[in-house]
Amino acid sequence: MAEYGFNTVQVRGGYASEDHQESVAVPVYATAAFDFGSVERADRLTSGVEAGFVYTRIGNPTNDVLERRIAALDGGVGAVSFGSGMAAISSTILAVTGGSGRILSTYQIYGGAFDLERSIFPNLGIHFDLVSHESSLEEWEKAITPETKAIYVESISNPSAKLLDYEALARLAHKYNIPFIVDNTFATPYLFKPLDHGADIVVYSATKALNGHGNAIGGLVVEGSTFRWSKEKFPQFYKKHWVIRDLKDRKRSFLEAFPDFPLTALLRLSYLAYFGAVLSPYEAQLILIGVETLSERVKKQVENTRAVLSYLQEQSDVVAWVSYPETQDNPDYDLAKQYFPNGAGSVLSFGFKGTWEEEVKLIESVKIFGYQANVGDARSLIVNSPKITHGELTPEELNEADIAPETIRLSLGLEDAEDLVEDLRQAFDSIREEREKAQKSA
Ligand SMILES: Cc1ncc(COP(=O)(O)O)c(C=O)c1O
Repeated sequence: MAEYGFNTVQVRGGYASEDHQESVAVPVYATAAFDFGSVERADRLTSGVEAGFVYTRIGNPTNDVLERRIAALDGGVGAVSFGSGMAAISSTILAVTGGSGRILSTYQIYGGAFDLERSIFPNLGIHFDLVSHESSLEEWEKAITPETKAIYVESISNPSAKLLDYEALARLAHKYNIPFIVDNTFATPYLFKPLDHGADIVVYSATKALNGHGNAIGGLVVEGSTFRWSKEKFPQFYKKHWVIRDLKDRKRSFLEAFPDFPLTALLRLSYLAYFGAVLSPYEAQLILIGVETLSERVKKQVENTRAVLSYLQEQSDVVAWVSYPETQDNPDYDLAKQYFPNGAGSVLSFGFKGTWEEEVKLIESVKIFGYQANVGDARSLIVNSPKITHGELTPEELNEADIAPETIRLSLGLEDAEDLVEDLRQAFDSIREEREKAQKSA
């Protein structure tokens, strides 16, 4: 659907009702397996010579529509869905490293991904190098070693909404013949398409804004068309496998069998198939329904973010600082202008100015904002990130990641902006009242 606009693709991409009994909505294919029909067809399907469905752990028509739709929205050549964003991230790292080597990243990533890098991957022979001053290209380049297999970043970081010079990082990665992987969860392809700015692989937690309704867990990996996997660094794409043999029983490599989308095929036929972190087709349908309204939701969420941002900037007695890259004093202001003309997402964080007891009061006094570890929901959310979404990080690591102890993260939903501001106002006012009382009695 390359010729159609974003809104058309988000509603129709990857689906033709004539291929599905004329069903207008994408059906849930609630089946574990698919009939082979003939022995000859079974041979063709299992070796990948013919595209088709065998077993839902490897592929399912409902998931297939989601994969095609997100690949189309992002401009990729293929996509694989997973049972969660973490499954998408870990499978991508495993597939790209082939089980050894180093990944270059930053402290500015989701706490779960950070702990995965630190606690699990080293046991599997994969190590991470983290750049502290992520705006310094020199620091990135210095950290690249002969074992480095990829650069991995978040387009809008969790929780501080920090941005990067993606095109410069892509150029750097390509100078060393390694792929540039971007977790685009917070931005979604509506606000930012990493592949258009040099990235090679995009990963998502579809649990967040892609789905947008907080009712499913899922993940996706999208493959771009331009990266060339070298034999020296990425032998996993050249290794011949019996499972993808041709019809004359000759073993083939992923690059031979699937030259246009080797990573998608490797992810699907090895990591999805054998680790088994498959997305349920029921949840794929929920995510597809969410994706149909992605642009409208994100537009409104950005509007609400801007309204709440302006309000917070005026509350200097309870708000020490606000972090969203559209404010002029934000170090990423120019990057936001360059890369995010339609808004830098619907997550902002601020520093709460007050005692721990007052912070508890704030979180427990809001009536509309939900206290949850999620983002991108239709409902607005509040969370004390250092303890919850980044609770895996030690105080020193939080400091390195520039996440101050007083950080409160907001994810703005679809409610009326006035109600959101009013909700924060009444919570702040309850803190102010207590302060006044304490002052009077002192
Ligand atoms: C940026 C980002 N990527 C990935 C994930 C993991 O996604 P999931 O919860 O779907 O496994 C999260 C989760 O919070 C996230 O914030």
